[in-house]
Amino acid sequence: MSDVTPDWPHLFRAGSPDAPVLLMLHGTGGDEQQISGLAAALDPTASVLAPRGRAAENGVNRWFRRLSEGVFDTEDVARRADDLAGFLVWARDYYELGDRSLVAVGFSNGANIALALALLHPEVVARVIAFSGMHPLDVSADASEVERAIGARVAASELAASAVLLLNGHSDPMAPLASVQSLVEVLEAQGARVQQELRAGGHGIAESDVAAAVAWLA
Ligand code: MLT
Repeated sequence: MSDVTPDWPHLFRAGSPDAPVLLMLHGTGGDEQQISGLAAALDPTASVLAPRGRAAENGVNRWFRRLSEGVFDTEDVARRADDLAGFLVWARDYYELGDRSLVAVGFSNGANIALALALLHPEVVARVIAFSGMHPLDVSADASEVERAIGARVAASELAASAVLLLNGHSDPMAPLASVQSLVEVLEAQGARVQQELRAGGHGIAESDVAAAVAWLA
């Protein structure tokens, strides 16, 4: 894991020691303060760890570089996921989280980095709630050698201990269902337990999504 800095901008709020740690990952243009509000709606007793995405795009926070909307720089996704996994190892030690269960909760670009973490670092992030996420590491047929190596890492992932909740809108142009379906196939092929909730509408966090997330956490 590269570029691990303990001074990574983040927020940590200690909750009940019996409750999970919610790793809150904001969407494009968000930050750690803004996304941490969602944690209270999911589990007010949880501890909250909310880092800030460090890939700037026109001055707004993101988790990784994209070539255009929905077309990701796979190499950057993998490198940033590696960095974030390193930060999480540091944070688990620094905040003395021991073996407390960690659940990554991401929205949009934050959901996509959460899913990349789940695919590449299941030993660090084994549970994910993804609001409006899609496949973050879909390696195309004409991929470069580096991208194919990342695809091979995904294909070698051991996800038998992983559980993922995918919350998507039927008509979300930013997280197309074809990409979500290909993600479901990859996750299940690697042994993850996947629950998928599709609702009417597009990109966002609907009340029914929050209710499904609360039920899944319980
Ligand atoms: C992404 O770039 O991760 C997705 O397209 C969602 C977003 O625009 O943030």
